[in-house]
Amino acid sequence: MLKLNRRIAAIKPSATLAADARATEMKLAGIDVISLAAGEPDFDTPEHIKKAADKALAAGQTKYTAVGGTAALKNAIKLKLKRDNNLDYEPPEIIASAGCKQAEANVINALFDEGDEVIIPTPAWVSFAAMVSLSGAEPKFVPCSEESGFMLEPEALRRAITTRTRGIMLNSPSNPTGAVYGPEQLTAIARVLVDTDIWVMSDDVYEHIAYGEFAPHLFHIEPRLKSHGIVFNSLSKTYAMTGWRIGFAAGPKEAIAAAGRLQSQNSGNPNSITQAAAIEALTGPQDALKPMLEAFRERNALVVERVRRIPGFRLPNIPQGAFYAFPNVSELLGSRFGDKQITDGDTLAAFILDEAHVSLVGGNDFGAPEHVRLSYATSVKNLNEAFDRIERAVAKLKR
Ligand SMILES: Cc1ncc(COP(=O)(O)O)c(C=O)c1O
Repeated sequence: MLKLNRRIAAIKPSATLAADARATEMKLAGIDVISLAAGEPDFDTPEHIKKAADKALAAGQTKYTAVGGTAALKNAIKLKLKRDNNLDYEPPEIIASAGCKQAEANVINALFDEGDEVIIPTPAWVSFAAMVSLSGAEPKFVPCSEESGFMLEPEALRRAITTRTRGIMLNSPSNPTGAVYGPEQLTAIARVLVDTDIWVMSDDVYEHIAYGEFAPHLFHIEPRLKSHGIVFNSLSKTYAMTGWRIGFAAGPKEAIAAAGRLQSQNSGNPNSITQAAAIEALTGPQDALKPMLEAFRERNALVVERVRRIPGFRLPNIPQGAFYAFPNVSELLGSRFGDKQITDGDTLAAFILDEAHVSLVGGNDFGAPEHVRLSYATSVKNLNEAFDRIERAVAKLKR
């Protein structure tokens, strides 16, 4: 067996990307697969953002830039953090990376070490635990119950903290549950964390895809968290820019500088043309956001209604943000079709892909094996067709 680095050997490929890759393979083989697995908006990047990239290319902005992003991009991020989140950050407290994922991986690697624990409330996005493990630290999972709407309860958080706890990763709106923390819940969590030296990391990538009342940022609610807090965000979801690869982190300058040193050795600056497009996205007109949000809102209502009609699917919460539903499918566990037995969310997703040609992601890698994740970043027509197919496939299962 090939001997690999011990930490890399323990890493599995991202379950969401793997599900998407399998669906793509089937499509290439001529099978009409509908993907409800994608973690990306189905919209095109707004025209004015693409134009800014064209302009940068024509102007020859094709050279290396400062590792953590150009001064102009950092200023655009500073403006965004003030405008959207009412948070004050200066350029040395900001780093731009090739996607939020890279910003998170770099900051996590810079801050944590062997022997440290990082709290991850679950269900959680599949990459958080892998990124923490790669740093040498241990993910400490804190389950959030369906009854709480998949929200971290302050008491559970308090109980999970040990002398080894060095960080916590929060994500609202949540991938995969669509849960969104309100001001009271954020205040209660802040109260537990404020007098600790635990790094409080806030992944805000779905902030603009939220269907309810606007919730202030955790670090605005409790500004004292900023001295040990990191904001992570991305242009991927907000501006339909997943392929461009641009995201950022903001936090105390020593932490950001350490992540920058890692980025300088590992990868260097994010793409120069993308940076120019990102400046336009962050500082230009914001009117493309509203129609995208309204489309997601319409699909959200449809998905809630259709999921509830599938026998064996139970939706514990109405997603309030992001573009995912996370039904509980425990009633179907133990059922079979031919030689296929449904033992968890992953096997159900595989069955649905084979029988219905609809790709979902099983809940196992999100820390919730009795669930499946459905993304509604696709048209209403596709959604209706996908649900018709899922209903027919599930009806074949013998309990
Ligand atoms: C919660 C969460 N954080 C971060 C990311 C990564 O975003 P980016 O495309 O900016 O790397 C994703 C993508 O699915 C996500 O769901």
